[in-house]
Amino acid sequence: MLVAPSILSADFGRLNEEIQAICDGGCDLVHVDVMDGHFVPNLTIGPVVVSSVAKIATKPLDIHLMVQNNTFFVELFAPLKPKYISFHIEEEKHPHRLIQKIRDYGISPAIVLNPHTPPEAIEYLLEDLDMVLLMSVNPGFGGQKFIPSVLEKAKKLKELINKRNPNCLIEVDGGVGDKNIHLLKDAGVDVVVAGNYVFTNASYENAIKSLQI
Ligand code: DX5
Ligand code: ZN
Repeated sequence: MLVAPSILSADFGRLNEEIQAICDGGCDLVHVDVMDGHFVPNLTIGPVVVSSVAKIATKPLDIHLMVQNNTFFVELFAPLKPKYISFHIEEEKHPHRLIQKIRDYGISPAIVLNPHTPPEAIEYLLEDLDMVLLMSVNPGFGGQKFIPSVLEKAKKLKELINKRNPNCLIEVDGGVGDKNIHLLKDAGVDVVVAGNYVFTNASYENAIKSLQI
């Protein structure tokens, strides 16, 4: 299991140390939540801050867009060379076109599904994707309760992935911790995002290791 701590739960007054601590603690990716105050009722960080994060991080960035104008934000963040950029299927009329655009920048494209969105919604995009991110909370805030129906959804998605593109990873985001990590593993999940669980632990390293099963 790969682990991507979400810096949404970090202390932004000490962002430099926080990023160093998760990278030294052995995380696999650094998850960056970009919110625009329109698609979700919260506002986070833009390219000015994320470019500093990119300079400090020794692990690749996983940028999760929760925004209305996906193309604008892809163009804004692409120069920072993240490993992944993910966008929400619920907010994109031309997902196939945007996937190609992200790949043309040399970035791995990923699509995000909100809790209500069925995996079949992206079946015909799977062969062009490197990862699908399943939300296990409603997007917008850290520290929310895990929605268990994501486990069944991950299993269904895994079947579609095996048929269409076995290289595509499944990532789950929201309410992840040591209580549900084994269930996620059994459901075929490859990558977990963890904000609250990592950043409230006295040892970020121990928290990250406890999820790398
Ligand atoms: C929610 C974000 C998540 C969030 C996860 O909109 O996409 O990445 O920070 O936080 P936890 O692990 O605290 O639920
Ligand atoms: Zn996220």
